[in-house]
Amino acid sequence: MARTGRPARTKQDWARILEGVRGTITYQASLQDYTSFRIGGPADALVEPVDVEDLCRVVAQARAERIPVFVVGGTNVLVRDGGIRGIVVSLRQLKTIRQEPGHVLYADGGVGMPTLIGYAIRRSLSGLEWGAGIPGTVAGCVVMNAGTRLGEMKDSVKAVRMVDPRGRVVDIPAADIPFSYRKAHLPRGIVAGVWLQLRPGAHDQIERTVKDYLQYRKDTQPLTWPSAGCVFKNPPQDSAGRLVDAAGLKGARVGDAQVSDKHANFMVNLGQARAADVLALIRKVRAAVKKQSGVTLELELKVVGQA
Ligand code: EPU
Repeated sequence: MARTGRPARTKQDWARILEGVRGTITYQASLQDYTSFRIGGPADALVEPVDVEDLCRVVAQARAERIPVFVVGGTNVLVRDGGIRGIVVSLRQLKTIRQEPGHVLYADGGVGMPTLIGYAIRRSLSGLEWGAGIPGTVAGCVVMNAGTRLGEMKDSVKAVRMVDPRGRVVDIPAADIPFSYRKAHLPRGIVAGVWLQLRPGAHDQIERTVKDYLQYRKDTQPLTWPSAGCVFKNPPQDSAGRLVDAAGLKGARVGDAQVSDKHANFMVNLGQARAADVLALIRKVRAAVKKQSGVTLELELKVVGQA
């Protein structure tokens, strides 16, 4: 029996629910393989739609059966050890990028930021340099209005293509989307793609900025370890990394979860970390920072799934 008291769905149930879906479907898929933290329990059904139309089908058919759909972007998320019930969608196969008139790029939600930035550099388009080294997908970066001190997603978003909860495509102009620090206030649904307004620039200068910035990140962040990027939001006028460092917590560990000794706002998975270890470490860090500096750190990391 499932925890809801309802009998667990059989393979036949899932085959009916996901009938006609052209993308890959994996049952009891470990979400470790879909998160940059390499942590997370299983998804009942993990679906990788092949295009936006396929995504619409998944959403519409899930709704007809009242099954929740969760999108795993994977880089800024901690999936708890019990995993996620229902359907988990990965946009990995939604990978189209194209240039449109007026220095506009359209990118599917599953395009990786590094790929998109490479594409912009090759066309001498400026505006995304701030994102050098951000490993997430375009969709993830839109949803969380990803940014660095050089800029943020909202500076370039022209419009967002969403699939609404009924499985219909809706295009939303940027003017209708309020953005705030690390959040785009979007209607319910899934970000399937985005139009970005860039500007013509000097190829060598764009490339130089990206390379320098990438180097800064390599020098200051633990990019070779599995992590979810920054764990806490920066409090106004300060840096969460500086505060955690000042509280003496670099290298602090719970199980295989460790506060990076390179950048204290990163937690790294030394190998076998569980979500419970990371959550215990987060509690420890927040308590120590509160005691040391009086600041209550807010999570940037999104925690999802069942314990
Ligand atoms: N610092 C320390 N100890 C540390 C880390 C930082 O003292 O362990 C100090 C640094 O010496 C520096 C200051 O804190 O004086 C700021 O550090 P940094 O330049 O690394 O920037 P940050 O504010 O910690 C922000 C973003 C990062 C982004 C970097 C670089 C947030 C929460 N963090 O970090 O974004 O990569 O700037 O632009 O906005 C992310 O969002 O996942 C992320 C990593």
